[in-house]
Amino acid sequence: MLTERAKILISENELKEKIREVASQISADYKGEEVLFVGILKGCIHFYSDLTREVNLPLTMDFMAISSYGSGTTSSGEVKMLKDLDKSICGKNVIIVEDIIDSGNTLSYLKRLLSSRQPKSVKICTLLDKPSRRKVDLQPDYCCFTIPDEFVFGYGLDVDQQYRNKKDIYILDPKDYPKE
Ligand code: IMP
Ligand code: MG
Repeated sequence: MLTERAKILISENELKEKIREVASQISADYKGEEVLFVGILKGCIHFYSDLTREVNLPLTMDFMAISSYGSGTTSSGEVKMLKDLDKSICGKNVIIVEDIIDSGNTLSYLKRLLSSRQPKSVKICTLLDKPSRRKVDLQPDYCCFTIPDEFVFGYGLDVDQQYRNKKDIYILDPKDYPKE
């Protein structure tokens, strides 16, 4: 089993604790305001659900689906929109909720796209950040964990579409890297 060879990088408890902290920061920063949380499917699912339930603000939810990866472990650099938002974001405070920032290509494309739709504000909240892999200049406004240059999975993150249901985040053993 792939999960037997993989090492746990961040445990379920560490995830819970840190997400609660980031949610309080967001609740304080937007006090008195309403926020639209835009989840980037599918990797965001557990993070989005845990984060929004800890945020103490009037909030609404919407989702986008983007594809920037093939089945391998390196980004193609190409970003394809699979599902757009349901409603206009004009005049709204938007927080983009993403699983991980790697090259930064996906979020830099999304931030540009959403900023062009006249929102009141656009910020980025990521569960994980791998800054050593960045190819474009992009900083998250909220980040739960900065991680080394390793391929990780679990808690929403996949290996070839599998293992998103794991409760912890694991480092994939290089022996198990999917074929590019
Ligand atoms: P970027 O456009 O290179 O920043 O890639 C971001 C997307 O690549 C993320 O939303 C993930 O879906 C995927 N990705 C990047 N690194 C990993 C990883 O270590 N495990 C699983 N998916 C990853
Ligand atoms: Mg993703």
